Amino acid sequence: MKKIPQVRDAIRRQPRYIPPAEGRAGKLRLDFNENTKGCSPAVLRALAKLTPDRLSMYPEYVATTRRLARSFGVRPEEMVLTNGVDDALHLLCDTFVDPRSRVVLCEPTFSMYRFYAELANAKIITLRYGAAMNFPLEDALDALRPGKSAPQIFFLANPNNPTGTLVSAKSLARMLKASLRTVIVVDEAYTEFSGLSIIRWIRRFPNLVVLRTFSKAAGLAGLRLGCIFANPKLISFLKSAASPFSVNTAALVAAEAAIRDLRTIRSYVAEVTRAREEFTKALDQLGITSYPSAANFVLVDFGESGPQLIRKLEQRGILLRDRGMEFGRRGFARVSIGTRPEMRRLIRAIKQIR
Ligand SMILES: Cc1ncc(COP(=O)(O)O)c(C=O)c1O
Repeated sequence: MKKIPQVRDAIRRQPRYIPPAEGRAGKLRLDFNENTKGCSPAVLRALAKLTPDRLSMYPEYVATTRRLARSFGVRPEEMVLTNGVDDALHLLCDTFVDPRSRVVLCEPTFSMYRFYAELANAKIITLRYGAAMNFPLEDALDALRPGKSAPQIFFLANPNNPTGTLVSAKSLARMLKASLRTVIVVDEAYTEFSGLSIIRWIRRFPNLVVLRTFSKAAGLAGLRLGCIFANPKLISFLKSAASPFSVNTAALVAAEAAIRDLRTIRSYVAEVTRAREEFTKALDQLGITSYPSAANFVLVDFGESGPQLIRKLEQRGILLRDRGMEFGRRGFARVSIGTRPEMRRLIRAIKQIR
């Protein structure tokens, strides 16, 4: 093979990227924690009004940021828009992580925390959720103990993907007080389903960063819009490291329409909450273990035959996410929760296959 230019070691060490499955449209998609019903019709109407003039211009952020800030209950200088939470994580690592900086994660969790920390050549400290999918608070406080080796960033998904675990406000406050030198990133991608948000605490804790996304409850994963919330000083540093136009105009228009119609989001969340309860009861009746979840997905232990069940469901057009690898044993799947009729269809299929 011909010689190629030098590639960074952090990239060479990355396992080959396996792109997410394609061809999912039209199937019952319970594998990516997406909104299965779709966004508000108001979003589609707003997008249809986009003009060639608007599309030919580079995006402008000030007015949309002001309106979104009002909706989130913060000031515009306390937030920055990103190309999804993924882009926010990249930006946070670019801003705070030097090679060998310490980054704490609690696994199993959203894989992009590790991915961007590894790209930045961080030293990763890994905590583990317990057997009952409980958050290891004492280990977390230990990792945050002040000293020379204070971590740069602690990434926490709340609720956590894939365990569904919700860390209480009281525990979060203890973590935030434990080390003011560590940026505590609380990823609230599923906050609409948990009902717990600490976004307002950015005024209380200078080391708190909160992340939100329009990909989940708002049903806009395809447009890629996330937000970072923190005190204005941190936000201003993040802006210094950000690409100038990473968020596109369609995402801005869609997000504004979505927050003008919060009723649609609230009614979807209420439906998912009812469906989650009904679904876990039905699993229970079938003798299948699931773990309590504060999000729009449930971690299910289907046992030894799990992988086979997932394959058979796929043949019937129902997609689940196999998470056995992260638990070191076959059978774990993360099941996104859709509407009650969708979850009844899944339960019927499980009964037939078993
Ligand atoms: C905890 C968590 N954060 C962020 C994301 C991705 O968010 P976005 O689509 O805004 O990049 C996911 C998606 O699965 C997630 O589970």
